[in-house]
Amino acid sequence: MCGIVGVTGRVNAVEILLNGLQRLEYRGYDSAGIYVNSQDGKEYLVKEKGRIDDLRAEIGKEVHGSSGIGHTRWATHGVPSKENAHPHVSADGRYFLVHNGVIGNFAQLKATYLQDITFASDTDTEVIVQLIAKFAKEENLSTKEAFKKVISLVDESSSYSFLLMDNLEPETLYVAKNKSPLLIGVGDGFNVVCSDAIAMLDQTHDFIELVDGEIVIVKPQDVTIEDVTGRVIKRAPFHVNTDASEVEKGAYPYYMLKEIDEQPGVMRSLIEHYVSDDGTIVIDQSLLDSMKQADRLYIVAAGTSYHAGLVGKELFERLTQTPTEVHVASEFGYNPPLLSKKPFFIFLTQSGETADSRQVLSQINEWGYESLTITNVENSTLSREATFTLLLYAGPEIAVASTKAYTAQIALEAILAKKFGEIKQVAIAKSFDVAHELTMVANGMQELVDEKGQYEQIAANALATTRNAFYIGRAIDYDVAQEAALKLKEVSYVQTEGFASGELKHGTIALIEEGTPVIAIITEEKTAKHTRSNTQEVLARGANVINIASRYLSEDGDQIILPDVHPLLTPLLSIVPCQLLAYYTSLQRGYDVDKPRNLAKSVTVE
Ligand code: F6R
Repeated sequence: MCGIVGVTGRVNAVEILLNGLQRLEYRGYDSAGIYVNSQDGKEYLVKEKGRIDDLRAEIGKEVHGSSGIGHTRWATHGVPSKENAHPHVSADGRYFLVHNGVIGNFAQLKATYLQDITFASDTDTEVIVQLIAKFAKEENLSTKEAFKKVISLVDESSSYSFLLMDNLEPETLYVAKNKSPLLIGVGDGFNVVCSDAIAMLDQTHDFIELVDGEIVIVKPQDVTIEDVTGRVIKRAPFHVNTDASEVEKGAYPYYMLKEIDEQPGVMRSLIEHYVSDDGTIVIDQSLLDSMKQADRLYIVAAGTSYHAGLVGKELFERLTQTPTEVHVASEFGYNPPLLSKKPFFIFLTQSGETADSRQVLSQINEWGYESLTITNVENSTLSREATFTLLLYAGPEIAVASTKAYTAQIALEAILAKKFGEIKQVAIAKSFDVAHELTMVANGMQELVDEKGQYEQIAANALATTRNAFYIGRAIDYDVAQEAALKLKEVSYVQTEGFASGELKHGTIALIEEGTPVIAIITEEKTAKHTRSNTQEVLARGANVINIASRYLSEDGDQIILPDVHPLLTPLLSIVPCQLLAYYTSLQRGYDVDKPRNLAKSVTVE
């Protein structure tokens, strides 16, 4: 969360920074700002509360420069406001800083060193820039020395990526990171810095990854990386293949709709990447060997990825006969369960940057266990730090609410479970033709996304003005109910719960009133009858029941019918109408569905 960008050696720095920030808005969008220096003695600092478009509107024609830094914010310390927006500037007007992360001991640093300074903001970031200026002046340190000294005072719990400019050296960007993502983009006669490569794909496709603790000095012609001991490191850039057009909306009004529609293609792309023409699944043998040693799988994830993990448990247990636990990363981190003798860890993370998940990964790396990260982002932090990585190949997911990454995670878990189950000689895995079944899923998804009108109508009738709502189901349908509820609440702000349908009557049924929407997911033969009887219970208390049922289990009056697919893969279809219901409800209530309030896509603070 929070996106940062920087550029040096480009005459159109303002446009590069603004376009880069616009691409990073998914990381936070409550305020934004840029600092640019024209190298001819002119400098400009412009900040605004709100979105990048609001900042753009504030920037006058005179604002120009060939180097600069920019920031789009997701507030941690201090309310969203112009004053708290970055870049922050030192009291002497010399240093400008943008920051992504949280400084754990900022209050203590402020009290110890900065009693005499009048602060312009409530942020932890301003403490850092004021400290740099203080040490540079009072101890006569160079900017690099002052920057390093301040970093050495920041405590272990802190996370940061910093981009610093000194107006006495206007071509130089000072860069450092710890636990927060940051990349250097390499150009011809210029260089850029960004939290995520997609911000700078119009400038370059070659990026250098940074390691925690390094200090990097970026000038138009060169990039100097120093490790913690001050030794200069050479590191070759990696190439990012993503096309800049993949991060555009095209003809779609919103990214969320585009990404929902892309799901059939994502299923096909996973088959292409993991299944060869003769039907063999191609997965790194050393990963399978490592999994084979395990007596228990531990899936660790947050939010939607956690919900994909719940379905993963069903897949791994049924197809591989391996006991599997699913854990919320932020809970596991500080309250780990009693582990089995030979655990194997699977991290599910669309972004590969989620701080809660990363904290667990660092912990299990210290304990010496092997792990797999399943992610959509190559070279992301969790991908680099886990023993193995499998990529989702879903294309960039820009909408804050995750859709195609959820279904891609489940599909890839199915592919992995099939292969692992085959190796373990589990009969059901041997007969599970995953490529064929996922092709059926892709076709079914296409049928569903082609029928948008019905979801728009149901949303208008049942959800557009409701105060609360429920998704219910049993077993695998309960897993989906939880994700469906998260989708609806995060984009439409309707208070929604995903509930085990049999559990409602043990208390929560008290919340059912005349007209309360209760959406039941019914895709499993063994539970269908029971879920239906739970819908009768709420119907009797006035609920507005909407059934989403597999075709072979459907009954008269069911509102949404799902094409039939393999029983283990029904979540890949049952979630699609729920995603579309959330999308339309958000629009009908007048919200920006791609950027729901208070959220950010990549959550890089714990
Ligand atoms: C909700 C959503 C979040 C993320 C969660 C974890 O739509 O996207 O709940 O799933 O923040 O993010 P990743 O998967 O990047 O680790």
